[in-house]
Amino acid sequence: MNENVLSLQAISKTYNASKPNEVQVLRGASLEISHGEVVALVAPSGAGKSTLLHIAGLLDTPDSGAVLIDGRDMTRLGDGTRTAARRSQVGFIYQFHHLLPEFSAQENVVLPQLANGVPAREAEARARDLLARVGVEKRADHRPAALSGGEQQRVAFCRALANAPSLLLADEPTGNLDPATSDQVFGTLMALVRDTGLSALIATHNLDLARRMDRVVRMEDGQITPG
Ligand SMILES: Nc1ncnc2c1ncn2[C@@H]1O[C@H](COP(=O)(O)OP(=O)(O)O)[C@@H](O)[C@H]1O
Ligand SMILES: [Mg+2]
Repeated sequence: MNENVLSLQAISKTYNASKPNEVQVLRGASLEISHGEVVALVAPSGAGKSTLLHIAGLLDTPDSGAVLIDGRDMTRLGDGTRTAARRSQVGFIYQFHHLLPEFSAQENVVLPQLANGVPAREAEARARDLLARVGVEKRADHRPAALSGGEQQRVAFCRALANAPSLLLADEPTGNLDPATSDQVFGTLMALVRDTGLSALIATHNLDLARRMDRVVRMEDGQITPG
C-alpha cells in the first residue's frame, strides 16, 4: 500500500513561456506527504506557494511532472474524472474565505456535498456537526457578510472538510486575520485536522504557526527544500 496521500513528482510550471515576461515558477518541485502528516510550506511572497497548491489541488495543471493523490496519478485523468476526484479527495482553503455571499454558513457547507451526490438530509446533518466542531453553530443561518473574519474562515474550514477529503490544502489560511484571532483560528483548524486524521499542506508566512505542524518545507528556485 502506498503510504503517501500526496506525491508531487518533479513538477514544473512556467507562466508566459517564451515571452519577455516568462516566469519559471516551479522547476522540478517534489514533495511527499504521508497519512495524517501536516506539513508547513514556508516561502516568501512570489516564490510559487499558491501555484504549487493549485497544482496539488487539481485546480491547475503542471507543464511536466506528476501529481498523485492517494496513490493515483491525477495528471492523466480526463476533465470530468479530475473534477470528481477534486471534489471528493481534496479540501481547499484560501486566505480569503470565498464563501458564496447569498447563502448561509450552513448552506455553504451543504452545497459542495450535494454537488458530490450526498442526500440533502445527510449533508445538512454533517454541516451542522462540522459547524458545531469549530464553534460557529449559532451562526449557521447567517450569511458570510454577517460573520466576523475568524468566523468566516471557520465556516470555510467546514466547507473544505464537507466531503471528507483525504488531503487538505490551505493557502495562508489565517493570513487575513489579526494575530490573536489568527492564533485561535489556526488552533481550531489543527484540532479539526487531527480529529479527522487528515493530511495537510499549509502555506504560511508565520513561523510560529509553521512550528506547530509536523514538518516544515521551503521553496527555493522553484524546488522544495527541507525546512
Ligand atoms: N496566472 C499567472 N500568470 C502569470 N504569472 C503568474 C500567474 N500566477 C502567478 N504568477 C507569477 O508566478 C510567481 C509565483 O506566484 P505565486 O504562486 O502566487 O507565489 P506565492 O503564492 O508564493 O506568493 C509570481 O512571480 C507570480 O507573479
Ligand atoms: Mg500565494
